[in-house]
Amino acid sequence: MRRAKTRFVCQNCGYETPRWMGRCPECNEWNTLVEEVEARPQGHSTSLSRSGATGKPVAISAVEAAAEPRLPGGIDEFDRVLGGGVVPGSLVLVGGDPGIGKSTLLLQLSRHIAETAGRVLYVSGEESVRQVRLRADRLGALNERLFIMSETELEQVAGAIAELSPKLCVIDSIQTVYRSDIQSAPGSVSQVRESAAELMRLAKTLGVPIFIVGHVTKSGDLAGPRVLEHIVDTVLYLEGERHHRYRILRAAKNRFGSTNEIGVFRMEENGLSEVPNPSEAFLAERPTGAAGSVIFAGVEGTRPLLVEVQALVAATTFPAPRRMAAGVDYNRLVLLLAVLEKRVGLDLSTRDVYVKVSGGTRVDEPAGDLAIVTAVASSLRNDPVPERMVIIGEVGLAGEVRAASSLKERLTEAARLGFTEALVPAGNLRPARGPSGLPPELRITGVATVAEAVRVALENGRVVGRR
Ligand code: TYD
Ligand code: MG
Repeated sequence: MRRAKTRFVCQNCGYETPRWMGRCPECNEWNTLVEEVEARPQGHSTSLSRSGATGKPVAISAVEAAAEPRLPGGIDEFDRVLGGGVVPGSLVLVGGDPGIGKSTLLLQLSRHIAETAGRVLYVSGEESVRQVRLRADRLGALNERLFIMSETELEQVAGAIAELSPKLCVIDSIQTVYRSDIQSAPGSVSQVRESAAELMRLAKTLGVPIFIVGHVTKSGDLAGPRVLEHIVDTVLYLEGERHHRYRILRAAKNRFGSTNEIGVFRMEENGLSEVPNPSEAFLAERPTGAAGSVIFAGVEGTRPLLVEVQALVAATTFPAPRRMAAGVDYNRLVLLLAVLEKRVGLDLSTRDVYVKVSGGTRVDEPAGDLAIVTAVASSLRNDPVPERMVIIGEVGLAGEVRAASSLKERLTEAARLGFTEALVPAGNLRPARGPSGLPPELRITGVATVAEAVRVALENGRVVGRR
């Protein structure tokens, strides 16, 4: 017996309501409520008990703690982001723009698991079996234990998983699969959500890790509802500029590890290759002696990462000057420009400001503020920052420079890559904080304000001029 019911679901946040509304009361977006007709099989909510999960309370100490070991994915950069390999029974969502390399990455993962652990099932709803094979050829992923299947009906997929009992299953993509007991179209909110929920049950009952590919819409959201993020264990995003070779894998949610780690890859002829020394890679194309280029010594998770921040300040031809930020939050840039105007006295009101982070990466840490403002000041004055200098520090609205975490790791990486000078928050150098262990080959200068930082970075020991 099936019960059909009509409801309206917000395409943005997944909010459900029995009647249509112009604006979603949950996320306040307009025109996002879409009618969905659905027939749920009865007993839907009891399927967990089917799975053998017991509903009886047990003492927490009596629960067996020894977890099944993680499977190494064979790609260190990937394993690090997952928190140390693939967790059996986990459901992992891999999101990203079309063409960024999601299928490539997951086929490479499949190849390694097939080579080292056992059978892998790769389900493609987007490409034919032949197309997948062509790609696998290119990636050197032809393996007896790698099974591919071109299927979109979830019941069939579930049957194949049960039959094959693979060590890993990949669903490419969640937008193409559907449950035949739900009437709405593949890719719709209810299909995506219910399919993901079913895959979660499968993963948990069979102990098979399932990776699902999810496409991202223009606005950067996962197509369909955000509720997908609540269902899965781990959400990874593969990012990068399509025309650049670097790709960055980030965890947005991780039930089995930290969300701070990133993995860096480069798209090559034969798939994605790891970039074990991303700082070197990101700095390789840096222009020498150019105004507006500043190196920020950042930290991503446990790993220091040096990136170049570039700024270009030019006379505006618009009534209101333009501000553009790539790899930096726009509002943060506007705020930092206000600090430069008010606290350092730079006039930016008649100038366009463009800020960009090289290599398609991002600078989201507050400790990157000072590098951004110095890059802008450097471009405005057309005066380069010393080539071998790194800059670290958070900027407050009063124009003060605030202490940053992990100074030692940042500076050690800078020294390793041949930098000789560092501009750091004065607060970090106070004896109480114990600046011991900082690399001796670096000349370290502590600064307390943005004005001071601009002075040291741009005018130190050199002729002031050429403004
Ligand atoms: P793909 O994995 O199909 O992206 P997604 O699944 O995220 O849509 O990757 C597509 C791009 O990657 C495509 O433009 C070609 C490029 N590519 C390579 O450069 N080298 C390779 O070995 C492969 C397989 C793809
Ligand atoms: Mg794909």
